[in-house]
Amino acid sequence: MARRKLAAGNWKMNGVKAALSEIEALEASFPAPDCDVLICPPATLIFAMAAIGNTVKVGGQDCHANESGAHTGDISAEILADAGATAVIVGHSERRADHGESDADVKAKAEAAWRAGLIAVICVGETEAERDAGKALDIVGGQLAGSVPAGATGANTVIAYEPVWAIGTGKVPTLGDIAEMHDYMRAKLGNSHTSEAENFRFLYGGSVKPSNAAEIFAVSNVDGALVGGASLKASDFGGIIAAASEG
Ligand code: PGA
Repeated sequence: MARRKLAAGNWKMNGVKAALSEIEALEASFPAPDCDVLICPPATLIFAMAAIGNTVKVGGQDCHANESGAHTGDISAEILADAGATAVIVGHSERRADHGESDADVKAKAEAAWRAGLIAVICVGETEAERDAGKALDIVGGQLAGSVPAGATGANTVIAYEPVWAIGTGKVPTLGDIAEMHDYMRAKLGNSHTSEAENFRFLYGGSVKPSNAAEIFAVSNVDGALVGGASLKASDFGGIIAAASEG
């Protein structure tokens, strides 16, 4: 079946008000692309970005599992939705590493996202040592089993495969390794989420650039990309949106 590709940007801890001009530039260049476009900026920019965005949908980078309460510095899915977000990244490897987030934490955050009406972009991916040890499929399989709630559907959930060693390094797995992992992920979720298996979108993430996006989008079961560094500038991200529109 034809799944609409998703070009998703993760600005991480980058972006002040002046960066909203990048969204204006994307809107001007892509009034109606043949793919979905999502940018996840720092939370401080969500409200203003959502007001500008038409093509560009806006997401959070993390959420707390609870709706509200005494959790200083955290943000809930409901607060993100109120600001105009339509999605939220959960379980990014930087959150798993910097904040010790477990698969169970990520699963609870994905359920919180749905509770607020947001799409959960659930991230998984192995470290370099795990790949070198031949454990990449096992590690990602375990993360999927632990992080993807039973109620996940193609409509409420997107899976992002991001090998930790490829993030921000310029290193990218071979196209064959990406295909192997994406085929594996769809088969794996096909066992646990039978009727939805063909509906899930699997993004590849890790050093995606305009120059390699088209070949990555052509890989079996790659339904888009989660892009860090190359999402910060409309000139770069535009090339990735263009590639996603063609593939
Ligand atoms: P990168 O980051 O594109 O800068 O490698 C990807 C990510 O962490 O989502």
